[in-house]
Amino acid sequence: MRTSYFLIIGLIFGLFSSCSSEDPQTTAKPYALKVPSHFPPAIIPADNPLTEAKVKLGRMLFYEKRISEDQLVACANCHKQEFAFGSDKPLDKKVHGDMTTRNSSVLFNLAFTKEFFWDGRTKTLEATCKDALKGEQKFNIDFVKTRLMPEQRYKDAFNSAFNASEPTDDMVEKALASFIRTMVSGASKVDKGKAEGNPNKYLSALEIEGQTIFETEEGDCFHCHGVITGNPLMTDNLFHNNGLDPYMSAGLFKDPGLGFVTGVSGPDVGKFKTGALRNLSYSAPFMHDGRLPNLDAVLKHYNSGVKVNVTIDPNMKKANQGGLQLTPDRIARLKAYLLAFDDPIFIADTSFSNPFK
Ligand code: HEC
Ligand code: HEC
Repeated sequence: MRTSYFLIIGLIFGLFSSCSSEDPQTTAKPYALKVPSHFPPAIIPADNPLTEAKVKLGRMLFYEKRISEDQLVACANCHKQEFAFGSDKPLDKKVHGDMTTRNSSVLFNLAFTKEFFWDGRTKTLEATCKDALKGEQKFNIDFVKTRLMPEQRYKDAFNSAFNASEPTDDMVEKALASFIRTMVSGASKVDKGKAEGNPNKYLSALEIEGQTIFETEEGDCFHCHGVITGNPLMTDNLFHNNGLDPYMSAGLFKDPGLGFVTGVSGPDVGKFKTGALRNLSYSAPFMHDGRLPNLDAVLKHYNSGVKVNVTIDPNMKKANQGGLQLTPDRIARLKAYLLAFDDPIFIADTSFSNPFK
């Protein structure tokens, strides 16, 4: 009796609040984000709940070239699904042909992250999208008003997402952030095994040996690329210097990285956000400036190319001898394990593809 009573009250209350509410964000159909059971909970800001309508609008804007000043640059120019929403080039062309100074980030599992860009200069996905809009596209809300809103599909999309006929910067940022939050990559062989309570189920003997190298002092990857506490993201989402450059003074670093945020002559110069080691088959070249053309070059770096420098991470323990100095045989095992985090389902998922095709 009691429960049904409360249920009825609840239903009546729900009915009233949904009728009287003017805010479509609370009445719109929520987007059911699928998060693998071994992942942490998604971070979704209270003022930007995930709805199907916002995700749909965000997807349209992500593939829309006309939101850039020269009408040539969409987010998807640099963030291509086939490359795990990164780029196959070290640097990419922004509006008016200017080049980026860093490698276009891969975009996946950003719903579980609190610091963005290689240098961590933004703390929400909304702020990150705002930065990207201004920086890469010289975005102006008037582009949306004059170029997109005359079209019925955009009128409808803004209407269902925000119950508004007049688009604002805030709406554009929220829609883009919502779409990017849905890009969850968690269907690799390793994930499938974990979901079934048997992490090694789909791994070969070679890959399992590689895992041991990764998770022990032999390879030492685990300190920064997660997994100490079972972190499935394959990054600690912190900032480190992994010994790419030999500079013994902060001023010599071409790119200050985290130092850009905390001080260009301080102790964070040359530190960058730890890359997430998933989808590595798709996302070469690697590192913040795309200097390493493939995974073999990355493994060569950690094995024999590490440079001692002024802010190198203490966990780059073998830096004095140039790196791990493992045999080719051990490196092959480590590589096999890394590739077990490829997620072809994510790369082919049509809910992230160009909606205009
Ligand atoms: C010209 C190429 C280019 C375009 C266009 C572009 N980006 Fe990026 N994106 C980059 C680069 C380069 C970085 C890394 C920049 C840095 O760290 O300073 C990046 C980083 C990001 C990140 C941070 C990822 C992370 O792991 O922290 C997000 C999110 C993002 N872009 C979203 C977008 C969105 C949304 C758009 C469209 C509004 C967009 N980008 C347009 C090149 C581009
Ligand atoms: C001290 C922390 C640390 C350790 C230990 C470490 N990494 Fe990294 N890794 C990083 C950081 C930081 C970056 C990004 C650096 C940059 O772009 O300047 C990175 C980048 C990478 C990338 C490129 C990611 C991308 O998207 O471009 C790969 C691949 C990689 N690491 C693999 C490994 C492997 C394999 C090991 C073990 C042999 C390892 N790392 C050990 C911190 C570490």
